[in-house]
Amino acid sequence: MKRKKVSIIGAGHVGASTAQLLALAGISDVVLFDVVEGMPQGKALDLSQACSIWNSAASVIGTNNYADTAGSDVIVVTAGIARKPGMSRDDLLRTNAGIVSAVGRGIAGGSPDAVIIAVTNPMDVMAHLLYKTTGFAHHRVMGMGGVLDAARFSTFVAWELNVSPGAVNSVILGGHGDQMVPMPRFTTVNGVPVTKLIPEDKIEALVERTRGGGAEIVSLLKTGSAYYAPAAATFQMVKAILFDEKRPLPAACYLTGQYGIEGLFVGVPAILGAGGVERIIELKLDDKEREAFVKSAGAVSGLVKTLDI
Ligand code: NAI
Ligand code: 2OP
Repeated sequence: MKRKKVSIIGAGHVGASTAQLLALAGISDVVLFDVVEGMPQGKALDLSQACSIWNSAASVIGTNNYADTAGSDVIVVTAGIARKPGMSRDDLLRTNAGIVSAVGRGIAGGSPDAVIIAVTNPMDVMAHLLYKTTGFAHHRVMGMGGVLDAARFSTFVAWELNVSPGAVNSVILGGHGDQMVPMPRFTTVNGVPVTKLIPEDKIEALVERTRGGGAEIVSLLKTGSAYYAPAAATFQMVKAILFDEKRPLPAACYLTGQYGIEGLFVGVPAILGAGGVERIIELKLDDKEREAFVKSAGAVSGLVKTLDI
């Protein structure tokens, strides 16, 4: 059987950490692309030597040439600048739009059958840009943010209840921004909604901490943003696609009327498999939840309009 190929565009913190997880798991060959000369090659050489210790047959190469990404099954886009303290994800808009447009043009021709995962922030908008610049079908482009935000909410809920984080299943809707919408009513611990386990004011505090979860790490790191959990989240999505898992995961997906929204990438629960976004799950929202979701989607739509894409 031919080995699967995953290309990662942007060999910085998130990109290299995702490459490490893929190489360790040995589930695909990995191409690390960056514009900085020597850096992706150096990281790939380092990872290749780690593979001998991990007993992994993955091939890892580093490159500055898009031709090496040809024939990819999945392409992860992390190229761009990350936040510094005081910056929102949206402050990255114009710089990263220029970078991600170039990436879209670079990857499209060589990998016409790939599924693309946008990670670069503001991620929902960058997914839209990759959809436009590659010309790919919308179900083969998605964004990573919801898995990360849900992991943060699950962690805080697990700490609050002193249970294993793996027992918590969180649901988050909306854009990967300050107006994301954690959904306590749909968030469960072994099937029991957290609204039955944690008082309302405490849940609200956990929701707020989740909304500020990225900024909390930026303010501690001071030189950049989170990457271990973002890489773990990206790895989970890549794996769901490579192995056609049909796994329900939150992702920024192009909506065609679901939740009353059309023509916009925004975070919703979806079934991920070899075809990319294979199905979007529509939850029945109450008025307050719908209002928060529409507000969050409106913020994404505003940024898309700013870029005129
Ligand atoms: P980083 O600065 O460590 O890495 C970014 C890499 O992109 C650098 O190596 C840089 O040389 C490269 N790059 C710049 N221009 C490029 C181009 N034209 N082509 C290819 N590579 C290029 O940043 P980090 O921490 O890896 O974050 C990357 C992006 O991901 C940021 O925009 C960050 O905000 C975003 N992010 C998104 C998350 C999400 O949940 N969606 C989570 C974490 C980060
Ligand atoms: C995060 O949430 C920066 O989007 C990134 O950590």
